[in-house]
Amino acid sequence: MAPRFQAPRGTRDLLPADLGRWQWAEAVARDVLERYGFREIRTPLFEDFELFARTSGESSDVVQKEMYRFQDLGDRDLALRPEFTAGVMRAYLEHGLGGRARVHRLWSMGPVFRYGRPQKGRYRQFSQINCELVGSPAPGADVEMITLFVDLYEAWGFRDLTVLVNSVGQPASRRSYGEALRTWLAPVREKLSADSQQRLVANPLRVLDTKDAGDLALFGELGEMPRMLDAIDAADRAHWEAVRAGLEAAGIRYEVDHGLVRGLDYYTRTAFEVHDRALGAQIALGGGGRYDGLVAELGGPPTPGVGFAIGLDRAMLVLEERGAAVPAPAAGVYVAAMESTRAAAVALVRALRRRFPVEFDVEARGFGAQMKAAGKSGARALVIMGEEEWTRGEVVVKDLAAGTQETVARDRLEETLAARLAQEPPDRSAVDERRAGETETS
Ligand code: HAM
Repeated sequence: MAPRFQAPRGTRDLLPADLGRWQWAEAVARDVLERYGFREIRTPLFEDFELFARTSGESSDVVQKEMYRFQDLGDRDLALRPEFTAGVMRAYLEHGLGGRARVHRLWSMGPVFRYGRPQKGRYRQFSQINCELVGSPAPGADVEMITLFVDLYEAWGFRDLTVLVNSVGQPASRRSYGEALRTWLAPVREKLSADSQQRLVANPLRVLDTKDAGDLALFGELGEMPRMLDAIDAADRAHWEAVRAGLEAAGIRYEVDHGLVRGLDYYTRTAFEVHDRALGAQIALGGGGRYDGLVAELGGPPTPGVGFAIGLDRAMLVLEERGAAVPAPAAGVYVAAMESTRAAAVALVRALRRRFPVEFDVEARGFGAQMKAAGKSGARALVIMGEEEWTRGEVVVKDLAAGTQETVARDRLEETLAARLAQEPPDRSAVDERRAGETETS
């Protein structure tokens, strides 16, 4: 019989067996972020709906169709966050971070929510690692963020990533580019999907963001697509050239993608994304860009910023498909006790757990059952608290990998375990081969 309740559509449970990979990836990311001088910021899971509507753009899919919007019992109009940037910038302003230092490097990690159609790599609750460099208009800031973006993936073992980059200019140049797109699309306007026809009216750049196969085929029938890069002004062009030169200097592999517009409206100048073959061209592993108008949009002083978010679920999916190895959990200790030493074992286990992962049978089963459990547990060391030894202030320590055992005084137990757990497990086949060799020569 199917259980009565299941996880809501588009959400997933991550079970202990899955979480090894996630926790490893999170720890690796934290290390990289620290080395880049980033500090963590945690903002609420929900904010005023208006915050997202203003920043993501009224005509964006995120606001139009994907928002988890709700009213609380006090009639507040709220929404679960569909992304981090708006909340982080709200916090930046609310706490006057701009007055404390000129440049801030901020990262966050956690769940975000979008009501989309679930499919492989697309969920309604998913996780992002989000990074923002706030306060610098310099092209060097864009270069540093794209470099960090790539370095995070590389630290997880991704190789040969190519970052797609474009410049989306400023609102004014985007409007004139929008007109050029309308003219370009005019011959096929009636044949476009209903969604794209609507977008063509409200925000023509969004048409380039379509995932509709029919639309994409129609684009192929048209002549060369007008380029945003031909519509940007001289200052934006200089910025763009400097970013490209910086990426080359940093050794980042990139391709210019003239169709890259991003799904959120707050971007200015640089926009970037990274894709992976395993997920297909329509699904991005991560993306970001510069957003120099966003803080002012929230009522703050003009403040430049550049950032990105990595979709963790998608990155984990790719690593899993490639069979990337996850480091095994730290080897531990199993403590087995007799009826007569059980009370003392409870205290000993508690003391050992200050330093080592320790397993102990809470059900007070017989010695045989404990031995069996120790074998299955994957523990490296087995501590046996026999009555006689314990009365003498000793225990027996068995190295379950090497198959050796020794009697150890209680006050030397911790150093003995530390040494055992730090030792490489012996490679049995190598030992056997050596033995075989020895017999041959002797
Ligand atoms: P975004 O491109 O909307 O950017 O999302 C970033 C990443 O989140 C995507 O590339 C993808 O990996 C992941 N993602 C998005 N939707 C889903 C989904 N339904 N299921 C699974 N993963 C998904 C932003 O969110 C911007 N706030 C990034 C940014 C930060 N720009 C500047 N600063």
